[in-house]
Amino acid sequence: MTDRYASFVQSGAGRALVKRLGLPDPPRLRRHTPGDPLLPGPALVGAADGGRLAEPVTKILTFAGVEPRDPVAGTTAADGTPQRYGALVYDASGITDSTGLRQLYDFFHPHARSVLPSGRVIVLGTPPTECATPREATAQRALEGLTRSIGKEFGRGVTAQLVYVTRDGDAGTLTSLESTLRFLLGGRSAYVSGQVVRVGAGTATAPADWNRPLDGQVVLVTGAARGIGAALAKVLARDGAQVVALDVPAAGDALAAVANEIGGTAVQLDLTTPDAPTRLADHLAARHGRVDVVVHNAGITRDKTLGRMDADRWDQVIDVNLSSQERINDVLLERDLIPAGGRIVAVSSIAGIAGNRGQTNYATSKAGVIGLVDSLAPVLRERQVSVNAVAPGFIETRLTARIPLALREAGRRMNSMSQGGLPVDVAEAIGWLAWPASGAVSGNVVRVCGQSLLGA
Ligand SMILES: NC(=O)c1ccc[n+]([C@@H]2O[C@H](COP(=O)([O-])OP(=O)(O)OC[C@H]3O[C@@H](n4cnc5c(N)ncnc54)[C@H](O)[C@@H]3O)[C@@H](O)[C@H]2O)c1
Repeated sequence: MTDRYASFVQSGAGRALVKRLGLPDPPRLRRHTPGDPLLPGPALVGAADGGRLAEPVTKILTFAGVEPRDPVAGTTAADGTPQRYGALVYDASGITDSTGLRQLYDFFHPHARSVLPSGRVIVLGTPPTECATPREATAQRALEGLTRSIGKEFGRGVTAQLVYVTRDGDAGTLTSLESTLRFLLGGRSAYVSGQVVRVGAGTATAPADWNRPLDGQVVLVTGAARGIGAALAKVLARDGAQVVALDVPAAGDALAAVANEIGGTAVQLDLTTPDAPTRLADHLAARHGRVDVVVHNAGITRDKTLGRMDADRWDQVIDVNLSSQERINDVLLERDLIPAGGRIVAVSSIAGIAGNRGQTNYATSKAGVIGLVDSLAPVLRERQVSVNAVAPGFIETRLTARIPLALREAGRRMNSMSQGGLPVDVAEAIGWLAWPASGAVSGNVVRVCGQSLLGA
């Protein structure tokens, strides 16, 4: 699906007209190309008094090729003009009560207009549940309001996120903080904004080459014949994974084309058949002896308002979108096919967060996926397997192309980016959660929705 309005606005004539009429102005988003620098300019790094994260973050930035600047020394460019930044990064972990929040204003106010298009704002803090006093927890919780508002205010493709980093950190925490910063600063997170990411303790392994963060990993992608699943297969293969692409037999030709293009293998299987989990486990055991990453992407909609919905529509949607994920996880875990360092990433939806008219079945299944992440992540921590979900918003696929025009336009524009996301945006977020380096990121639900107003 092409967004003709966005293409028009991004042309010279369109830009002038849109400005004059005050219409939505979707910016061209900065997306990832391997080898690109992480940011379009230096990062201004600040910290509240007593912060514990600025130092490791500055090291990570430098290692990742980003030039960190100090708020005092770094505000003027070499030619004497005001410095513009690829990112503003602020360590707020030292803020222990509400009066300390003033330090946020002092850092962000003078630089609010100095962020380059598609730049990044990242605030780091301590999870409120780990804070020593109610006042500290209150102040750390307050950070969410700042980042979500900056995401809505800065425009021009600038994203803003809050990253809570555990106090009980270990080497895995630092590695996953690095993987998370690389994702959030770079073009991979073009359509992710207003999110809260939690980096905990856990085992994580940095890659030999950050351009191939999935090197050697065996990754299963369900629903890989088209849409988000096909983009996923390509992104994961680009990042070094051996991809096992699965879809229904009826999509066999399209599936084979995807698998051939990326040098992966194709499995034709309907996930709802009773023997699907065993057949899949047999296949993975025989071909690879394991599966490092399971991406539950296959999903269907069967929309009707609840009073008009027949039981079949309800059953099919719950079965494909939720129950089949549970059955497959159970068999793969029982047979020890997901090794330590394994990853499960499931695709939810903002409909599962906000609810949606005509989608009681779909929203129930997608909220269930969030429940699966919440309940399984602590259980699988001991096995060093992480479980996360992404919740896409309006993504340009066949699924959204079927929405009537007026609703489709509303869905596209009602977010901080004034445009729909692309399948590759969802794929990049799933990729980050699948990296061996992201092991200490578990139990998260990350929306890929351009900071949609729905369920915000
Ligand atoms: N497109 C969006 O805007 C959007 C928004 C939120 C969530 N999602 C979710 O993202 C995922 C992918 O969506 P998409 O837009 O690419 O959809 P899509 O319909 O283009 O692709 C889904 C794929 O899943 C496969 N599939 C369906 N039932 C299956 C089964 N029983 N066994 C094996 N494969 C099966 C289909 O054949 C298809 O290839 C879904 O879970 C969807 O709910 C999409």
